[in-house]
Amino acid sequence: MDHFNYRDGALHAEDVPLSRIAEAVGTPAYVYSQSTLEAHYRAFAEAFAGQKATVCYAVKANSNQAVIRLLARMGAGADVLSEGELRRALGAGVPAAKIVFSGVGKSRHEIALALEAGVGQINIESEPELALISDVASAMGKRAAVALRVNPDVDAHTHEKITTGRKENKFGIDIDRAPAIYDRAGKMPGIEVVGVAVHIGSQLTDLTPFRDAFALVAELVGRLRAAGHDIRRLDLGGGLGVPYQDEVPPSPAEYAAVVKDVAGPLGVEVVLEPGRLITANAGILLTRVLFVKEGDSKTFVVVDAGMNDLIRPTLYDAWHRIVPVAERPRGTPERPVDVVGPVCETGDIFARDRALPVLNSGELLAVRSAGAYGAVMASTYNSRPLLPEVLVKGASFAVIRPRQTIEELMGLDVMPDWLA
Ligand code: LLP
Repeated sequence: MDHFNYRDGALHAEDVPLSRIAEAVGTPAYVYSQSTLEAHYRAFAEAFAGQKATVCYAVKANSNQAVIRLLARMGAGADVLSEGELRRALGAGVPAAKIVFSGVGKSRHEIALALEAGVGQINIESEPELALISDVASAMGKRAAVALRVNPDVDAHTHEKITTGRKENKFGIDIDRAPAIYDRAGKMPGIEVVGVAVHIGSQLTDLTPFRDAFALVAELVGRLRAAGHDIRRLDLGGGLGVPYQDEVPPSPAEYAAVVKDVAGPLGVEVVLEPGRLITANAGILLTRVLFVKEGDSKTFVVVDAGMNDLIRPTLYDAWHRIVPVAERPRGTPERPVDVVGPVCETGDIFARDRALPVLNSGELLAVRSAGAYGAVMASTYNSRPLLPEVLVKGASFAVIRPRQTIEELMGLDVMPDWLA
């Protein structure tokens, strides 16, 4: 369900024609729909209504503070993995107690900051990290509430670059080694063991890997409790997929039922970390056609957004729907074209052999499902400034991040004395 629809022949975000946003902020630009964000969050949170559950929005998917604040006001906590994300979540108003600090490589400085802020949970991904957290916490006269992120060696059957729960992935602690590490953690002065965490991957469209991983985690909880550990929380990560093309991912209700099967009998509180599910289909990348370049064997539609603005097609061969903002009548003939960006890389391609109607230079296109892992993964490659983000609410819209200026971009460089 989203609020990007054609009205009177023009694609709108809620009640705002996208052409109006293009006029106001230029292109390329990210555009998000507040009603869609709200609907997605509500659908997920309501699926867990009968359970002791905290939804900690995975800030990595879209870390604009307006987006975080919107979700925080609806009751969301946050899953963060760097100082920057922690500070964004706090700045946007997420209560520290509802923040989970994840990530495979936290620095001493970041750990101290998280403890200072009083985050609700730190997820530990290795033994050296456990020792470091205990050190930092004891030095501060605190005990860190921690969960060990275990790696259950379950294949999430998703793209290899976003699968995280296999032994060969860098994430988590081998589930077989977990009991011994929990025993060690239980004796550390700066550590308070509160739970077990798991996250097996992203864009899962099948419940089976979740079910398999959660069952292994439940078994581990039984063992840990028998060994005297007070495991009261299960952090089950994120990863529920969304439709980009014709995928039919499980519904939040189906996913919640799987969680309930595991968590119910254990009487634990669950923490969930959805990211993509909330933001992906609540955003588009608005771009303008620069040229239509007819080749012998191919037609290239060159647009003003590039791989630096949305890297997913290049990095994961991700499929994003691309539609013209000016609606074409039903039955308009289509032909296969490559939609490419201006960046000096062969991989700067949004769609290959995509059936699209004849497009004209100067017209607007919307790259759909770009609200998650879009703006957050943007770079300034080719000295292209970071693009703006716009939030639409009904008939209003606001720039929630202005376009970076070339001056700001160039201003980051500093000449050494000897070249001044
Ligand atoms: N929790 C943890 C510990 C994670 O590592 C992630 C995502 C999430 C939650 C949220 O997962 P989600 O619900 O969004 O699937 N850049 C890639 C996705 C990377 C996901 C990284 N971790 C992409 O564009 O597909």
